[in-house]
Amino acid sequence: MSQLSTDHLLGIRDLAPEDIELIFQTADQFKEVINRPIKKVPSLRDITIANLFFENSTRTKLSFELAEKRLSADVLNFSASGSSVSKGETLIDTANNILAMKVDMIVMRHPLPGAASFLSRNVDATIVNAGDGTHEHPTQALLDAYSIREKRGSLKGIKVVIVGDILHSRVALSNVFCLQKAGAEVMLCGPRTLMPKFAESLGVKVTYNLKEAIAWCDVANMLRVQNERMQTGYFPSVREYTMQYGLTMDTLKHADRDITIMHPGPINRGVEITSEVADSDYSIILNQVENGVAVRMAVLYLLAQKRQEQ
Ligand code: CP
Repeated sequence: MSQLSTDHLLGIRDLAPEDIELIFQTADQFKEVINRPIKKVPSLRDITIANLFFENSTRTKLSFELAEKRLSADVLNFSASGSSVSKGETLIDTANNILAMKVDMIVMRHPLPGAASFLSRNVDATIVNAGDGTHEHPTQALLDAYSIREKRGSLKGIKVVIVGDILHSRVALSNVFCLQKAGAEVMLCGPRTLMPKFAESLGVKVTYNLKEAIAWCDVANMLRVQNERMQTGYFPSVREYTMQYGLTMDTLKHADRDITIMHPGPINRGVEITSEVADSDYSIILNQVENGVAVRMAVLYLLAQKRQEQ
């Protein structure tokens, strides 16, 4: 397979396992490129990409921008704050005005689930979902899975637990789809109040006990509690959450295997993970960030290739 089966990247749910493998193989090549003294290739020299961020971001926004620049694309950056969105402009009008400036691709982060899919059906551009509310964050899942593959050699049969606020997490949902399609086993762990009712229907194991999860897994992906998406309290106090679900060196030392620790960021040090664990040799958190650029270069390159052949 040399082409993606999809015209947009809206979610991992839409991808075939072969798409994921193609993205990984392409990312391998771009990882080699970004570690050269000259980190740039002319692959997207004739492409213009607009990054539309309607929600805060550090990693995803900078990673996409750098990926685009490494591919020699022309880049426009748009943040909702300070734009005419506050004057009542619709998402479609905002996008069409940007596209009128001869833009080919839109990378969008939006607080509403389904926003990227909605845009793909209503404007003439290739759309990449950079996180839509509690729904999906496909490039995060791809870079997470790519980082596991790099560390462990393969994803086949690897046991990955995702720990924390599963209910509000687009990272968790995209990770479940991506890891399963790549052949890994998945467990979800967190408080009952932060576990979606449909969790078991995803074909994953579910536990409410962190020690049990750590005893089972090869890889633990620790998630932040997403207070900004909560309308009510889901646990008695942060201290209580940390006592039950905060990952410490002590918990890791009780495991009989070398466990790989991941986190999509931003980290709340001392809440879901101690600094000692986050900065330890168990952690591949900064490798995830590095791989994010290569994986996003692969996604943009393959989508642009698909667009040019239409
Ligand atoms: N992991 C992630 O999406 O981080 P940002 O919110 O900083 O982009």
